[in-house]
Amino acid sequence: MPFRWNPELKPEEITPEEWFKQRRRLMRSAALVGAGAVLGVDPLAAMEKGGAGLGEVRPGVVTLNEKQTSFQDASGYCNFYELGSGKEDPARQAATLVTRPWSVWIDGEVGRPGRVTLEELLKPHPLEERVYRMRCVEAWSMVIPWVGFPLAELLKRFEPGPKARYVAFETVLDPERLPGQKRELLPWPYREGLRLDEAMHPLTILAVGMYGRVLPNQNGAPLRLVVPWKYGFKSIKSIVRISLTTEQPVTSWNAHAPSEYGFYANVNPAVSHPRWDQSKERRIGEFLRRDTLPFNGYGDQVAGLYAGMDLTRDF
Ligand code: MTE
Repeated sequence: MPFRWNPELKPEEITPEEWFKQRRRLMRSAALVGAGAVLGVDPLAAMEKGGAGLGEVRPGVVTLNEKQTSFQDASGYCNFYELGSGKEDPARQAATLVTRPWSVWIDGEVGRPGRVTLEELLKPHPLEERVYRMRCVEAWSMVIPWVGFPLAELLKRFEPGPKARYVAFETVLDPERLPGQKRELLPWPYREGLRLDEAMHPLTILAVGMYGRVLPNQNGAPLRLVVPWKYGFKSIKSIVRISLTTEQPVTSWNAHAPSEYGFYANVNPAVSHPRWDQSKERRIGEFLRRDTLPFNGYGDQVAGLYAGMDLTRDF
């Protein structure tokens, strides 16, 4: 069942009817709580220094010696269909996505299911910078300095059970904040999923910032996934639910067009997409195209996850 954004309900109170009836009231109160956040009760806001900067951020263990995409391009050329289907729409419409207060459900095959506020979720996790190559299935790429922490650290806190094999993610479902959800472009809410070993891989992070600043709304504030060896559509934005499951979860793009968007979506120059040649890419800000690397250049670290699999079939 889709999860409708609703930060103040307790788990036992959740019914679809309640969601509907309470949403308008909550939106009014959210504006007030959001004002409180600006005054300092919100740790991300409190960490901001001089406006949009984050506080203490460790240098990450993985560094990348490639020219970084400009902040302007990374925050101005976006895919976030809930905020419009043009590349510049998400930045233009970003203000409709109110991100405070925010909470995330962690449920399914975990020892400690429950809803946590963004503040509780972030508290135990030191933030670090990770400069990652990002490759979109539309054959463009960027190099982005993310700020976040390993997803594995979060999952361990909620104690994955013995039956957990996959992790499912959902974006907030709220057509008032994300007006693109009023159009049936994709099955909403946006959903993505990973196999548990992919989710636990040290390269997989949850990001709350980029370029040393709090994530702009158009890039998936306040919390998004970043999986650098997979096509960009796996890196789901504005997450409100993380569920551990036994079965492979349904994901939005795969459900919409299974022949075009596989569940695995590992960057693979040898498997073409019906509309975009995957052997080359255009780095945003550059003119000439460059070769696309298997697993987006992270093969040394991740190819072992797929030993024995036929990646032309499981694309
Ligand atoms: N998450 C949500 N909820 N909605 C989206 O439309 N687009 C995906 C992914 N996550 C998308 C999303 C796609 S196709 C890409 S390429 C990346 O976000 C783009 O991230 P960026 O705009 O921060 O570069």
